[in-house]
Amino acid sequence: MFDFDKVYDRRGTNSLKWDCAKDRHHSEDELPLWVADMDFKAPEPIIKAVHDVTDKGFFGYTVDMHDDRKIVCDWLERRHGYAYDPEDIIFTPGVVYALTQAVIALTEPGDAVMISEPVYYPFGALVNDTKRKLVRNVLQPDDDGRYSIDFDAFEKQITENDVKVYILCSPHNPVGRVWGKEELKKVGDICLAHGVLVFSDEIHADFVYEENRHIPFASISPEFEAGSLTFTSPSKTFNIAGLQIAEILAHDEKKRNAVRRAVNATGYIEVPVTGLAALRAAYTECDEWVDELVSYIYDNIIYMEKYLSDKIPILKMTHPEGTYLPWVDCRALGLDKRGLEELIRNKAKLWLDAGYIFGESGTGWQRFNAACPRSILEDAMLRLDQALNG
Ligand SMILES: Cc1ncc(COP(=O)(O)O)c(C=O)c1O
Repeated sequence: MFDFDKVYDRRGTNSLKWDCAKDRHHSEDELPLWVADMDFKAPEPIIKAVHDVTDKGFFGYTVDMHDDRKIVCDWLERRHGYAYDPEDIIFTPGVVYALTQAVIALTEPGDAVMISEPVYYPFGALVNDTKRKLVRNVLQPDDDGRYSIDFDAFEKQITENDVKVYILCSPHNPVGRVWGKEELKKVGDICLAHGVLVFSDEIHADFVYEENRHIPFASISPEFEAGSLTFTSPSKTFNIAGLQIAEILAHDEKKRNAVRRAVNATGYIEVPVTGLAALRAAYTECDEWVDELVSYIYDNIIYMEKYLSDKIPILKMTHPEGTYLPWVDCRALGLDKRGLEELIRNKAKLWLDAGYIFGESGTGWQRFNAACPRSILEDAMLRLDQALNG
């Protein structure tokens, strides 16, 4: 029903992915598969909703209504089986911004905040930027590149560092895990036992494959719900990061009020009228689009996995359970950081995210982005094949 094969020229749209190669010291001919932004147009109902709101011509101060929050909860219940309370929601311009304000609101400078690397790099940056102490838990890959949490180390690091907040990435970018109920329960039990608040970043929840199901952390028990904040957004699922709208779900009133005060203190009080219009259309009129999108991306992932194992078997791709960001082990090439960068950027002419930026344990890996028309991914694979196999 939807044409995800269509290639658009996104240059000249203020696109971080396509318009800033020079500024970031990359060459214009590197194919960008780095930032987690899709090369698909937003679905028609969103485009129409933004048109309608701009046609009206009123861009004054806004207020988000109970119905807007209810629409978010209905989507989360329909897609992920858990009914949040609309009153739990605080709208923000983005998830990283929201995590930053929650850290400011609910911890003190010097407090320890733990993350599990390799992980989305702004987590570490926001902990450092808010002058909290960063504790780096490290995920362990098995021989197939499937990662898990070493719970003994996890608990030991919490007690030794007196950790106050754990930032959970669920599903996990970049290792592609969709955490199972037992794993989430262990995370939550350990955190509860030591008074650690869980900040669950669930922005990738709509991208899960095969038998995997996203389990909202707060859905596991009332204690987990009270001891956690959930962070999500339509920005990944509908490719609308530029419309600046995301949600915090905070069931505990005291914590919610503290976070709201921190958000308001930054001057963010009203949501953008275009973002709100897009959110309403996204969460009420686009279920079929998302179903087809996820299936298209899954086919891309399988295509890439097969291509690598047939033609470039020295590169081992972790089979993603979720997210659209394949994680590829390049360590068997025996190259150091500079050698791998030279290969990817200068020989293959690809712009990827080097694994080490997600934490030292990601050294020797590369993160791809499979949320693009198949022909772009085919081009990327061909470039890689020619760089390695001549
Ligand atoms: C795990 C995770 N959280 C948050 C974000 C970004 O969210 P936002 O653009 O709303 O700050 C990303 C983007 O890639 C992500 O992967």
